[in-house]
Amino acid sequence: MKKDLISVKDLTAGEIEEIFNLTDKIKKDKAGFANVLTGKTLALIFQKPSNRTRVSFEVGMFELGGYSIYLGPDEINLGIRESIKDVAKTLSRYVDGIVLRTFEHKNVIDLAQFATVPIINGLSDLLHPCQALADIYTIREKLKNIKGISVAYVGDGNNVCNSLLHACSKVGINMNIATPKGYEPDKTVLNEARVIAKTKKATINLSAKPKEAVKDVDVIYTDVWTSMGQEKEAKMRKRIFKEFQINKSLVRLAKKNALIMHCLPAHRGEEITDEIMESKNSVIFDQAENRMHVQKAILIKLLGEER
Ligand code: CP
Ligand code: NVA
Repeated sequence: MKKDLISVKDLTAGEIEEIFNLTDKIKKDKAGFANVLTGKTLALIFQKPSNRTRVSFEVGMFELGGYSIYLGPDEINLGIRESIKDVAKTLSRYVDGIVLRTFEHKNVIDLAQFATVPIINGLSDLLHPCQALADIYTIREKLKNIKGISVAYVGDGNNVCNSLLHACSKVGINMNIATPKGYEPDKTVLNEARVIAKTKKATINLSAKPKEAVKDVDVIYTDVWTSMGQEKEAKMRKRIFKEFQINKSLVRLAKKNALIMHCLPAHRGEEITDEIMESKNSVIFDQAENRMHVQKAILIKLLGEER
């Protein structure tokens, strides 16, 4: 049966560990994986812009011996020129896997339902699973022992925050989330994460107080205040999120060598200062690099022969 990657929630802790172990091998021996996806093709249906996701999937596929086809917003015109069902059924006859970056999360579910090839969620309004997996991998790479550590997410309770909630709870990382009132993470995701966290003895704290959230944590994470599709709200959000900036005075409250993380793209001077982005504990560009390595492991697991 084909496997999809729609949400981190659907992976077991063991499967996450398998992805990370394979990623370790891929990072150490790029040449050794040069032909594992020879003859395989990946379609990338993107309804929103992208730097990291598009490039890391395309380069990743190329380095594994496979091929990729980018289909931008004007090409397939998902659900408008053709129904999602028909796109799924047609593309399944040509390609071995599809990455979808879209607005409504339901589009990913629908595509997965009608496609006979694996579907990877390359970001929806609700979730960003590939990002969260690369993030936990990066934390694991830097801090080695991750069980029981604490991550503070400060900012908008958006898709990145939601997937991070799933991922942290799966691997037993404590999470403190600070958002302005009304900008909390998705309620269903939060409940799911709370149930999972309980089984791992991990905690999830929600507040509107960035200073409390970052106190003594091992990692501080943020993302843009205005996500793709919310551009009309940008001015209002800048005002509402003003007190949620990651800056020197906030970082000082965390553990001394706390990692600084951001999924990128960043709006320097808004959710994070230039100085903190460039500081020695910032692992932001390692995160970006790890997107490709972790996604290679995901591609091998979903599209490779040994699945
Ligand atoms: N972090 C991330 O997904 O970046 P892009 O939007 O550039 O793909
Ligand atoms: N929350 C951001 C993440 C971009 C990678 C957005 O959805 O635009």
